[in-house]
Amino acid sequence: MPILVTYASKHGSTQDIAERIAATLHRHGREVIVQPVHAVENPVAYEAVILGSAIYFGSWLKEATEFVRRHCDELAARPVWLFSSGPLGDTPSVDPKEIAEFQAAIHPRGHRTFVGSLDRHDLSFTERMIVKAVKAPDGDFRDWDDINTWAESIAQALMPAGTPPISTHDTPPAVSHPLQP
Ligand SMILES: Cc1cc2nc3c(=O)[nH]c(=O)nc-3n(C[C@H](O)[C@H](O)[C@H](O)COP(=O)(O)O)c2cc1C
Repeated sequence: MPILVTYASKHGSTQDIAERIAATLHRHGREVIVQPVHAVENPVAYEAVILGSAIYFGSWLKEATEFVRRHCDELAARPVWLFSSGPLGDTPSVDPKEIAEFQAAIHPRGHRTFVGSLDRHDLSFTERMIVKAVKAPDGDFRDWDDINTWAESIAQALMPAGTPPISTHDTPPAVSHPLQP
């Protein structure tokens, strides 16, 4: 069965992270489907699920939170890893407020928060006012080595017992996106 990498992203940077995770798993021989969370009907068709969301105002995006609550039983029955993307620059990372609930409900194998990206030009007027008020730094802070290493640890965890450890990461190939022609 394939692995599902699914995400909720408002401005695209969490989507990029999901696609990188998918590409890394694919490079390690796994069949991977990457889809926005609103396009996933049911996680039951997947061996494992990697689910991530951008953080806004201390929370996951609503569609990702609703996905977990709607598919709580199916997620609890398979290996799941969660990731969040948000903190900018040196801003300390704080777990989104739903993570404790998700840990109790679906027992994910792990949760990671990755540093995010912010381009003022992509934001709505209200968002621009908010990031100005909190002096959030502009820029792409995503740490691709960190993301690759995390994805490789998942690839390793999903391999049969006794498989030799994964040692290096090269530039991963593209993964086909089911929503694209
Ligand atoms: C209005 C606004 C609120 C945000 N609130 C948070 C927050 O509470 N915690 C956090 O870590 N990052 C916060 N961020 C940063 C975003 O999570 C970050 O830019 C992320 O990479 C955006 O992901 P996306 O491009 O997938 O939407 C906020 C950004 C904006 C524009």
